[in-house]
Amino acid sequence: MARPITIVGNWKMNQSIPEIKAFFAGLKQAQGSYSSQAWVAPQFIHIPLVQTLATECGIKVGSQNCAGHEKGAYTGEVSPVALKEMGVNFTIIGHSERRSLYKETDAELNEKVLLALKQGLTVIFCVGETLEQREKGQMKDVITHQMKEGLKNIPNGFERVLVAYEPVWAIGTGKTATPEQAEEVHDLIRNKLAGGLGFNPDQLIILYGGSVKPSNINQLLAQKDIDGALVGGASLKAADFVALCQGKKG
Ligand code: PGA
Repeated sequence: MARPITIVGNWKMNQSIPEIKAFFAGLKQAQGSYSSQAWVAPQFIHIPLVQTLATECGIKVGSQNCAGHEKGAYTGEVSPVALKEMGVNFTIIGHSERRSLYKETDAELNEKVLLALKQGLTVIFCVGETLEQREKGQMKDVITHQMKEGLKNIPNGFERVLVAYEPVWAIGTGKTATPEQAEEVHDLIRNKLAGGLGFNPDQLIILYGGSVKPSNINQLLAQKDIDGALVGGASLKAADFVALCQGKKG
C-alpha cells in the first residue's frame, strides 16, 4: 500500500483562540481540495477547542509532547493517559526544542515513546543533527544513535510510529535542507535503520521538517523516501497549510 502524504502542523507556543477559529474557517472553505492526511498539534490547553473545530475538517489532533510517566508527582506535566482520555490522536516526541531547551535525553524520550504507544497514541518521533555535527561529518552517527536509543524495545511490526527528520539548522531559520540532503537521511532511516528496529521499512511514514513552505513542498515530496512534512511557521495560516496539503509526489 502506498504511504499516504502526511502534513503535520506543529503550532509550538503560537495561535490565539481567534487565530485558531480563523484557521479552521479557512480550512473548511478548502475542503475537498487536497487528499493528504492533515494533522495539527496545538498547545495542550487548546486541544479540546481544536478537536471540536478539526473533526468537521477531517483533521487529526495531537500534542507536542507528553510525559514519560502515567501519573504521580510531576508538576506541570501532561500524562499520555490523560491525552488518550481526551481523544488525542498522536503526540510528537523528541522535537529538537525539547531536546535542547528542556534537556530531554534519549532514555527519557524512549520512556515517553513506549508509554504513549501503550496508551494507544500514534507517535511522531523526531531526530536531527545540529549544524556543528553535520560539519564535523557526524550526521549519520547522530541520526543512528537517536533512532536506536529513542525507538528501542518497540514490539515488532508496530505501525503507530512516524519518524520526522528535522535538521536542527533548518528549523525556523528559513534554511531548508536541499531535497537531496533530506533524501540522504530519509534513505538512511528507511533502508538502513527501520528494519533493525522492527519496523516495516516500506510502510514507515517519514516526514521532513525544517522551513518547509508551499514553495518547496513539491521538491521535497518528489524524493522517494519523503512522505510528508512536519511544519512549524508555515502551518499557522490556513492558506499556507492548505497549499502544503495540496503538495503532490512527483
Ligand atoms: P519550521 O519548524 O517549519 O518553522 O522550521 C519545524 C518544526 O520545528 O517542526
